[in-house]
Amino acid sequence: MSNKPIGIFDSGIGGTSIFNEIHALLPHENSIYLADSKNAPYGYKSKDEVIALSIKNTELLLEKNCKLIVVACNTATTIAISYLRETYDVPLIGIEPAIKPAALNTQTKAIGILATKGTLSSELFHKTTDLYSNGLKLIEQVGEGIVPLVEAGQTNSDEMKALLETYIQPMLKANIDYLVLGCTHYPYLIPMLLQLLPNHVKIIDSGLAVAKQTKSVLEQHNLLNDTTRTPQNNFFSNGNVNVLKTILDAKFPVSYLDF
Ligand code: DGL
Repeated sequence: MSNKPIGIFDSGIGGTSIFNEIHALLPHENSIYLADSKNAPYGYKSKDEVIALSIKNTELLLEKNCKLIVVACNTATTIAISYLRETYDVPLIGIEPAIKPAALNTQTKAIGILATKGTLSSELFHKTTDLYSNGLKLIEQVGEGIVPLVEAGQTNSDEMKALLETYIQPMLKANIDYLVLGCTHYPYLIPMLLQLLPNHVKIIDSGLAVAKQTKSVLEQHNLLNDTTRTPQNNFFSNGNVNVLKTILDAKFPVSYLDF
């Protein structure tokens, strides 16, 4: 049993969508969240840059005594998690686009995947799609421009709507019935996507699966926090703290930290 915090990092504020799922499932766990907004988006950086940024974030969370680290970023997971697992002696949870449930359930045999360039071009992504995409049409779309708009607090802007309309167009033409959101910034777009997509298209993200995996790994390592005290959930950003506060509905403490 441990009251040490869970560490969570993302290239910015998108990983808060994963924090929300973890907090809902494990309401007594303390946590520390790092929003590396200064370096967002990771999706266009080289492999070496994403690995270096992931090391920096991981080491800061370890300095802050975290008992487990959630890489709440598909791009950092697909590019850097194997390196982090080889290097650090701490349980690491990653996130990947939820291709499997979409592939197992699609009726139209066509699936849309919206993710960053880094994720869509990663080896891990190709391995997963090779495993599950047999006989299916996968319409992969880079969500260019989405992360910077979310980081700027423009989740509901006309500009965002125009981008999403363009990105889902080829998917609708291909008759998808599942849209996989492969970036932790994208769950904040679900209200807008629901307006733009026909009713039969289901949206899948990986947040709940990551929360369940976090719980199960904490259990395996005997690291669950068994107190019922109100937890401390602290957020640090090296970018615009106000956007982070807003996306958290001002429910948790947010501080600026230069990391
Ligand atoms: N939230 C990150 C992800 O899940 C965004 C990546 C980026 O910064 O481009 O991929």
